[in-house]
Amino acid sequence: MPSWKARTSRTRCTGGSVAVIIADLFQIMREDERFRRFGQGGGLDSKARAQQLTVDLICNQAGGPCFYLGRDMSTSHAGMSITGEEWEAFLALTGNVLDEHKIAARERREFLALFERYRADIVEVPANRALMQPETKRS
Ligand code: HEM
Repeated sequence: MPSWKARTSRTRCTGGSVAVIIADLFQIMREDERFRRFGQGGGLDSKARAQQLTVDLICNQAGGPCFYLGRDMSTSHAGMSITGEEWEAFLALTGNVLDEHKIAARERREFLALFERYRADIVEVPANRALMQPETKRS
């Protein structure tokens, strides 16, 4: 991912960089009712930690130079019962942020692919199962 590598190493804190895109994404998730349950509990420091670790993971996966020192995605999200619908909403919000930063189509696809590779590790309740078994849905 050479284009994203440039954005992690040379433009880390400027518009369109991974750090700014993730910061915007976390902000709109905090404001979105569908993700309210994930913001409950956990203090500011835990939230800042998760945000910075997400930047580091994406930066690392895009070719560095960051290192990722957090837990693997399966361990980090185990027990949150993240649904297929929440995952799709998360990707749609990410797409909106990339559009706001006027990220070109190829880079947009590449960025979403960096997230998409973790779907199986993060989603615990597949979309159709969540629909068919209401008791698995969260309020
Ligand atoms: C529906 C999508 C997602 C939801 C609802 C979600 C939610 C969360 C929550 C609630 C935490 C714990 C925060 C805390 O400890 O206070 C967390 C941790 C984390 N998430 Fe996600 N997440 C999602 C997708 C992703 C994706 C796609 C990535 C990156 C590819 C990611 C990377 C991380 C990292 C790096 C951590 C911290 C790991 C650690 O503590 O070592 N998350 N996530």
